[in-house]
Amino acid sequence: MTDLVTATEAALEGELPGARGELSHGVLNALRAPAGAPLPDPGSAERADPLGDDLQLALYVSYELHYRGFAEVDPAWEWDPALLAVRAAMERRFLHALRDRTAGHPDVHDALDELLVEPVDGTGVSYFLRDEGQLWHLREYAAMRSLYHLKEADPHAWVIPRLHGRAKAAFVAVEFDEFGGGRAERVHARLFADLMADLGLDPSYGRYLDAAPAEMLSNVNLMSLLGLHRAHRGALVGHFATVEVTSSPGSRRLAEAMRRTGAGPAAEHFYAEHVTADAVHEQIVRRDVIGGLLADEPSLASDVAFGIAATTCLEDRLGDRLMAAWQDGSTSLRAPL
Ligand SMILES: [Fe+2]
Ligand SMILES: [Fe+2]
Repeated sequence: MTDLVTATEAALEGELPGARGELSHGVLNALRAPAGAPLPDPGSAERADPLGDDLQLALYVSYELHYRGFAEVDPAWEWDPALLAVRAAMERRFLHALRDRTAGHPDVHDALDELLVEPVDGTGVSYFLRDEGQLWHLREYAAMRSLYHLKEADPHAWVIPRLHGRAKAAFVAVEFDEFGGGRAERVHARLFADLMADLGLDPSYGRYLDAAPAEMLSNVNLMSLLGLHRAHRGALVGHFATVEVTSSPGSRRLAEAMRRTGAGPAAEHFYAEHVTADAVHEQIVRRDVIGGLLADEPSLASDVAFGIAATTCLEDRLGDRLMAAWQDGSTSLRAPL
């Protein structure tokens, strides 16, 4: 276990994934050359399925340059104007698809109340894993989620300079916990790497990017998109609220799944930690982050509600993919582990 975790700390950057279509092929090819190499025409983003593998992978790779980047990619690509133009075209497609799918979403207060309602007879991924999940399901789930959890809370950190006053102070208080409260071994991304090691997975950054389908990529892309654009700060806060409000009960079920299958102490600890931490975070986010933001900028209410609706929409799509595969006894990943 220690060897694998040490490997994580060493592998600061990921490796470029394989292409999934014309658009991602063009972007990945360019990134192998120095910044400024020819890119696909932004118009090619218009032809790609906005929620499909090709566009979502190309978008994921272009966002990754703002996080840890890729070992073999020139860091100057991060602010390459031509790449930003292609990225903007992909973002427009993606946002348009999300607006379409969430049209008529509830207002922010109803949306938050709905998030709190747990179905009496729950169905869905965390219920399935708690009641029937086997180790291979848990390993697939962790490999899938590693795309976010190995950079847990990073996409949300982009919004900090865009907040102020009560919302900023409360937001940073929650992020402080996510980043370990000053202790490297408690950073949630590190706790997740330890979970992966318990499950016999490789916790190297980006290791399962090729295995992750569009339904997972779009989840992470939504956070990056909302975090990187000041215009979407309200929706980013809505995303953050959705994660924090729904995390505690879901984490309880996942901790039970890890315990029942004997996945290991670190695997159980990651979710057990989120049961208690997120019960507190939920209160702070509702009262002070959303409350503070909307007191200062009431016009952002519908953006916050859109952020909640878009997050729920993409989480539902991912849940459907996982359950459809598992009910069929097959892998939810693009290739089995
Ligand atoms: Fe966390
Ligand atoms: Fe949290």
